[in-house]
Amino acid sequence: MKLHEDLEKVLISEEEIKRRVAEMGRQITEDYKDDPEPLVLVCILKGSVVFYADLLRAIDHDCRLDFMIVKSYGAGRESSGNVQFVKDLSESITGKHVLIVEDIIDSGLTLTFLRNNLITRGAKSLKICTLLDKPERRNPNSTITVDYRGFVIPNEFVVGYGLDYDEKYRNLPEVGVLKPEIYAD
Ligand code: IMP
Ligand code: MG
Repeated sequence: MKLHEDLEKVLISEEEIKRRVAEMGRQITEDYKDDPEPLVLVCILKGSVVFYADLLRAIDHDCRLDFMIVKSYGAGRESSGNVQFVKDLSESITGKHVLIVEDIIDSGLTLTFLRNNLITRGAKSLKICTLLDKPERRNPNSTITVDYRGFVIPNEFVVGYGLDYDEKYRNLPEVGVLKPEIYAD
C-alpha cells in the first residue's frame, strides 16, 4: 500500500518545501550573524523532526541541538485542550539564544505553554519558527508571535513532512490533505 494513495491532494510539494526551508535558513543565518554565540535549536518532537533536520542544515551559524516532547493532542485530529509536558531539554538555556522549531501552529496553545515555560529560564533571546501556520484556528488564549513562518495554510488537517494522523504519514515527503474516507471508522 502506498501512502500517497491516501492523499486527496498535495498542499505543498517536496520542491516548494525545499525552496522555502532554504530561504528560512538564510534568513535565520542573517538575523543571528552579528552574534557569534551559539543558537540553541529546540525541536518539538515528534512532528518537527523532519523540518528540523532540514532547517538546521540550512543555517550557517554555530547551532546546538536539543529536544522536547509536549503533548497537546489525543489520537485524532482535535485538541484535547490539555498540554502535557513529556520530555524536557537536556541542557540549560540560561543566557542562550533559543529558537523553538515547530511543525505547525494551530490553536497556538502548545507554544503558548512552552514559551511561557522557557521564558522563566532566562534565555538571552527566545524566538519561534514554524513550518506551517493556520492563523484562522488561533485560540484567543494564545499569546505567541511567530518570528519565522514557512507557509500559511487554510483550516484543513494536514499530514506529511513530520505531521501525522494517528502517528501515520510522518514520512511522506510532502504536505497533503487526506481523503475523507481515511477518517471514517
Ligand atoms: P496547537 O497547540 O493547537 O497549536 O497544536 C499544535 C500541535 O498540534 C502541532 O505541533 C501538531 O502536532 C498538532 N497539529 C495541529 N494541526 C495539525 C494538522 O493539521 N496535522 C497534524 N497535526 C496537527
Ligand atoms: Mg501530532
